[in-house]
Amino acid sequence: MSDDATIGFYDRQTEAYRKVAEGFDNDALRRMMRDLPPGAHVLDLGCGPGQDSRLLARAGFRVTAMDASAEMVRQAGLEPGVTTRHATFADLDDAAAFDAVWASFSLLHAPKSDFPAHLAAIRRALKPGGTLVLSLKTGTGESRDRLGRFYAFYEEDELASLLAAAGFVVAETRRGRAKGMAGTEDPHVTMTAHA
Ligand SMILES: C[S@@+](CC[C@H](N)C(=O)[O-])C[C@H]1O[C@@H](n2cnc3c(N)ncnc32)[C@H](O)[C@@H]1O
Repeated sequence: MSDDATIGFYDRQTEAYRKVAEGFDNDALRRMMRDLPPGAHVLDLGCGPGQDSRLLARAGFRVTAMDASAEMVRQAGLEPGVTTRHATFADLDDAAAFDAVWASFSLLHAPKSDFPAHLAAIRRALKPGGTLVLSLKTGTGESRDRLGRFYAFYEEDELASLLAAAGFVVAETRRGRAKGMAGTEDPHVTMTAHA
């Protein structure tokens, strides 16, 4: 399942999003790449236009980029070495397939009621000891932004509890603030956890 208004937005605004995303800080991605073995298989879950898949592929990692937006997947697939899947979070049914899942500001578009099932699927998709790096906006509840996108917000301790309940061990928590397409500067958290 995915939210039609949210995916419709990303299908229409792929190019505009790509321009904004090129300016995003990629410190968390570089830290993850530094800690992975050479050639590791990474799932870029909710890959958007693929700016992170591109960096991963160019660094020699095997990359699967997955997104519910057909146009986002098309853009991500333009990079040589990136394998794409047009699919929703609910379609993830791999078992012990990935060394890492990079879920950058994507799972925040899933309803909170679906989030535990998505975390369980990610854990199944990871090899034992595999790494999840998850970035979300912090806050409470669910709402739409002025562009019509659906968002679920999490407090840090809530996210840590949900990760623990899904069988992850949280290794690192980092915080930041960033401005996205809606123009608001919002706080976010990035958690690194192991299956
Ligand atoms: C804010 S963008 C993040 C893109 C990229 N990961 C980044 O960090 O720039 C959110 C992405 O999640 C995708 N998405 C939203 N709901 C989804 C769902 N249910 N299943 C798969 N992808 C979804 C959107 O199409 C969009 O490309």
